[in-house]
Amino acid sequence: MRHYLQFSDLSASEYAYLFERAALIKRKFKAYEKHQPLVDRTLAMIFEKASTRTRVSFEAGMYQLGGSVVHLTTGDSQLGRSEPIEDSARVISRMVDLVMIRTYGQDKIVRFAEYSRVPVINGLTNEFHPCQILADIFTYIEHRGSIQGKTVAWVGDGNNMANTWLQAAELLGFTVHVSTPTGYEVDQAVAGIARGESFKVFDDPMQACADADLVTTDVWTSMGFETENEARKKAFAEWCVDADMMRVAKPDALFMHCLPAHRGEEVQADVIDGPQSVVWDEAENRLHVQKALMEFLLLGRLA
Ligand code: CP
Repeated sequence: MRHYLQFSDLSASEYAYLFERAALIKRKFKAYEKHQPLVDRTLAMIFEKASTRTRVSFEAGMYQLGGSVVHLTTGDSQLGRSEPIEDSARVISRMVDLVMIRTYGQDKIVRFAEYSRVPVINGLTNEFHPCQILADIFTYIEHRGSIQGKTVAWVGDGNNMANTWLQAAELLGFTVHVSTPTGYEVDQAVAGIARGESFKVFDDPMQACADADLVTTDVWTSMGFETENEARKKAFAEWCVDADMMRVAKPDALFMHCLPAHRGEEVQADVIDGPQSVVWDEAENRLHVQKALMEFLLLGRLA
């Protein structure tokens, strides 16, 4: 049994398989061709934080694969009334085939997985967002081919997205240029990066974007950090992806954002709504890559 708790849980060869499989599943979806390898399988989705893309993509994806979905939140289950995570994991995993969790600390999802009889997928924690980076890299490949040897500029918070980009770079052989305000740097220990050779740190976000193949960012205040909102707005004022940053990147550079976005804060409207932006493909691809992931975790590699 395999879990998907962080990006480094799969190998480069497994990612190569998943990207090919996601492309096939997407082609079938676009052609209205049924692809239902998970008939009679059930996915439990546990949300302790809000979601639009993760909820819709996992729920629609599981139905499209022939399975069904149970949706739980902290407020409408015993999870919100202090039932131990270990007990919840034991019970839920006796009734379903797969569990997706969006929660706060990575330790919670690790504990759940430890006591689960079925695969567990990270739908976002404070530390990682592997399903999003899976979609982002698939989107890059669709538009530009292999990401190996390329440069990704990360502008903004050293958050769960940044940590996951660093894991992906180490595994798949590309470089991340990271520029964050002081006090919001990526923590290499949290990211779980062994060597630190696949990322470079820049004080100036313009320098991070120079010659980048992909420029990407995220909100200044992630879910769970709302009390820091005003302080972050001041600290991050210079870390707004704008046309000047895109101009110093490669001429064919792409722009990505995991969404939801705040135009005028972490990105200017003319960038996210401009010709280099692929954010709508990126959002849609959550559906296709996660269908490939769920199929892989339950059935392994298929011909
Ligand atoms: N990008 C992302 O995970 O979106 P949601 O928070 O809407 O699920």
